[in-house]
Amino acid sequence: LPTRSQVDPGSLPAYACQRHTPLNHHNLCFTEALETLAEAAGFEGSQGRLISFRRAASVLRALPGPITNVSQLRGLPCFGDHSSRIVQELLEHGISSEVERVKQSERYQTMKLFTQIFGVGVKTADKWYREGLRTLEDLQGQTRKLNRQQEAGIRHFEDLSSSVWRHEADAIQRVVEEAVWQVLPGASVTLTGGFRRGKLQGHDVDFLITHPVEGQEAGLIPKVMGLLESQGLVLYQHTQSNHYQDFKDLEHKVSQSTAIDAYERCFSILWLPKSPTSFHPEAGEGPKEPSRDGKAVRVDLVVAPISQFAFALLGWTGSQHFERELRRFSRAEKQMLLNSHGLYHPEKESLPAASEEDIFTHLGLEYIAPEQRNA
Ligand code: GTP
Ligand code: MN
Ligand code: MN
Repeated sequence: LPTRSQVDPGSLPAYACQRHTPLNHHNLCFTEALETLAEAAGFEGSQGRLISFRRAASVLRALPGPITNVSQLRGLPCFGDHSSRIVQELLEHGISSEVERVKQSERYQTMKLFTQIFGVGVKTADKWYREGLRTLEDLQGQTRKLNRQQEAGIRHFEDLSSSVWRHEADAIQRVVEEAVWQVLPGASVTLTGGFRRGKLQGHDVDFLITHPVEGQEAGLIPKVMGLLESQGLVLYQHTQSNHYQDFKDLEHKVSQSTAIDAYERCFSILWLPKSPTSFHPEAGEGPKEPSRDGKAVRVDLVVAPISQFAFALLGWTGSQHFERELRRFSRAEKQMLLNSHGLYHPEKESLPAASEEDIFTHLGLEYIAPEQRNA
């Protein structure tokens, strides 16, 4: 029998959507280093380098055992010279000078801080950095630079930058379900994103909402948010109504074969009151601080008609890299376009799918369960 440290690169397929990628894997010190370099490349607008490092990290997450010798990298897909060098450095010295240099740089630390703020992307963070801003205090001194979303992001920075735990996601789900069922009986609320992939903590909670009767779901979010607002649970919300008409013609389908979709949605910050009986993993022993009575949590709501539900579920479960790889596989290997609305042959209507399994089948892929999509 092969030992766990023996890796057969020949058996590892090139696309992440062809591999099983569990949450816990055997190469964390390497993947953390490569993800740091990917993130840093993203901060400099180097999308190509970002994807190269991310692909290499993703390959290591799918290996059945730890890399213990640089020779094991030979033949692995997506492993270029640069990524190999980083792994070699880590194997030999336990540390990579390049990664350490990046992590300690003012540029990386500031960009990481700023992009962590809800509503701040790389472009804005870079602009602020070039203006000489470095800290949250620097930003607060310049209120006019902030939009409503960013202001909320900074106001709730402490809560939002701490992890959302699984039991908190479940509590939020009960609150959202109550509101959804009151507005539209028979609707379903499905936990998606990282928690559906089995993560125990996340940066937000993602929900996908649908109703068994096509069309009933339209316009649901404003009513749900109104109800939650009347309960004092909404700290911030931005609702977008659906814009399906933009997706009607194929040109748009082609250009929109990305993460962006046209569903009705809401990016929000909700207030999760602390229930006295709830288990709190962070609470240690000793005197309890006169604790706050709740926590601000980022919540994403997406509403899909039942006919597109399987595509929306697949598209919002992630990981982001798994999604990117699915779309790349569809395009390059199957000459089809996949997005969160459908799977399209050129010049043809979407292929119907009642489940995620149907979509994998259409693509000629083995079904990968959500817990194995942590690419
Ligand atoms: P954490 O929240 O950080 O724990 O991880 P996560 O995987 O849940 O990340 P996130 O909540 O950012 O995204 C969840 C999934 O939704 C990922 O697969 C993303 O690709 C997808 N996603 C996020 N934003 C959008 C969007 O605007 N449109 C579409 N179609 N998908 C999105
Ligand atoms: Mn999420
Ligand atoms: Mn999200």
